Amino acid sequence: MCGIVGYAGLNDAKDILVKGLEKLEYRGYDSAGIAVHNNDGVTLFKEKGRIADLRGAIDWHVETTIGIGHTRWATHGVPNRLNAHPHQSATGRFTLVHNGVIENYHLLQNTYLKGIEMQSDTDTEVIVQLIDLFVTEGLTTEQAFRKTLGLLHGSYAIALLDANDTTTIYVAKNKSPLLVGVGEGFNVVASDAMAMLQVTDRYIELHDKEVVIVTKEQVTITTLEGTVLTREPYTVALDMSDIEKGAYPHYMLKEMDEQPSVIRKISKAYESELGDLTIAPEIKQALQQADRLYIIAAGTSYHAGLVGKQYFEKMAQKPVEVHISSEFGYNMPLLSQKPLFIFITQSGETADSRQVLVKIKELGYPSLTITNVQGSTLSREADHTLLLHAGPEIAVASTKAYVAQIAVLAIAAYAIAEDKVMDVKQELAIAANAIQVMVDAKAAIEEIALAYLPIARNAFFIGRNMDYYVAMEGALKLKEISYIQAEGFAGGELKHGTIALIEEGTPVFALVTQEAVALNIRGNVKEVAARGAHACIIAMEGVAEEGDHLVLPQVHELLTPLVAVVPLQLISYYAALHRRCDVDKPRNLAKSVTVE
Ligand code: F6R
Repeated sequence: MCGIVGYAGLNDAKDILVKGLEKLEYRGYDSAGIAVHNNDGVTLFKEKGRIADLRGAIDWHVETTIGIGHTRWATHGVPNRLNAHPHQSATGRFTLVHNGVIENYHLLQNTYLKGIEMQSDTDTEVIVQLIDLFVTEGLTTEQAFRKTLGLLHGSYAIALLDANDTTTIYVAKNKSPLLVGVGEGFNVVASDAMAMLQVTDRYIELHDKEVVIVTKEQVTITTLEGTVLTREPYTVALDMSDIEKGAYPHYMLKEMDEQPSVIRKISKAYESELGDLTIAPEIKQALQQADRLYIIAAGTSYHAGLVGKQYFEKMAQKPVEVHISSEFGYNMPLLSQKPLFIFITQSGETADSRQVLVKIKELGYPSLTITNVQGSTLSREADHTLLLHAGPEIAVASTKAYVAQIAVLAIAAYAIAEDKVMDVKQELAIAANAIQVMVDAKAAIEEIALAYLPIARNAFFIGRNMDYYVAMEGALKLKEISYIQAEGFAGGELKHGTIALIEEGTPVFALVTQEAVALNIRGNVKEVAARGAHACIIAMEGVAEEGDHLVLPQVHELLTPLVAVVPLQLISYYAALHRRCDVDKPRNLAKSVTVE
């Protein structure tokens, strides 16, 4: 959510910054800007819209080797050029980019900045105006930066330029992600290593409330109080092919296609020396010692958590509660004696989930993060981490991370199960093949999307048991990328109210993979069809019947979500495509939601 880059070096900063912003566009794409030092001070280019629009607004003749950039997902202030970052102080001396939310910006404005006319509606502008004010009052830039940071409440990742200093980028973070990348004769700043992989794969992790001074020769990390810290860079295990679309028209399509190989990679990553799938002994112990697991997550990750609950309860007889993170932190249920909190988060940065982690840590409870991003905030701050090994997920709509989350949850539950109800390694291998069959069935699935959705105003996804959770995920996918109003329902629940919405031609996608409830869900399909619904049955071999619209290869009953979700992802993709929606960057959304 908002992306930041910075570069201090020897080459053309504009080009490196803009390329970096293109890689960060998944974090926000309603406006963008860069600020660069040149011989006349700091020059600002910003534009409403995508990075492509910013490209057109830049004077590429400006010579510069140092600058900062930003791609925005609006929080305070509508997306327009005025509210786009970078923001400049009234005197024009300081220029700043910010990701996060300054909760006390009103108070700061009223206390310190009464006489200054704000140029934007953003909380960010307060930061840059404060720095300028404190410098005018006699502090050095670094002192003013530190003093301002000390006054801020909220989350921030910041990069600052001083027009009077052509060598330095001032950097700080609190709760929002930010890294410093190091190279020969240059150093960079980025919200995500992916942004600057074009120039370096060596990064230094920054911690909250640290202040970092970046020049082309040096990176100096200090505490807010000024104590100098040393921290070695690590090498990011990514290469450009992981983050490029290649021949694919969309990242989402590429990422859906990667799903079979993601499952295989996970199996490899969690293989023990004996060839069985397992997790680290200390994580196993933490899971075993808990009397109840509390899964905390948002969106798609929450849907994966609902499936995970079934695994821990059915495979390992461990009671589980699954909670939406934005609700849990402010309305905590009664907790058990020995809870373990499991945070499921693709990005590892979701602010709603992080605020829960902060709270349960204060209460002294243990935690485990299941994430795709090593070194992410929730991974660093939890006691334990299980990695998803899905590779970077760039499309805003999550696909491969969802199946990875389910696979890792299955392995974790299996690892602590006393009586193994399945051979998880073998069953995951079968599921990977079944997913492959589904991604290879694109033509048939596109036809379904075309038959059901091009002009639909709304759609329903129904299922029972595990299929209900997948139905919720299918509906979320369709909503977010095609903007069709869609809901996932427990098949039996429709008749308790929602069936009133079924009209002639309303698309209803029904999942039938669970033997125990196959007849019941087919009954629910009849109910909606009798009221005019245009029903599409997606059934698994073994419970499929003549006339079903799509048949999935059979997999273990507990692993059906891995396969059943794939046609729903593809249906959403093709529906969005045919409705001319921006599949990878749906409106109003951002990939990594770093504000509450
Ligand atoms: C939907 C989607 C979101 C995320 C949610 C949580 O396709 O991607 O619903 O699942 O914002 O994000 P993470 O998993 O990064 O915590």
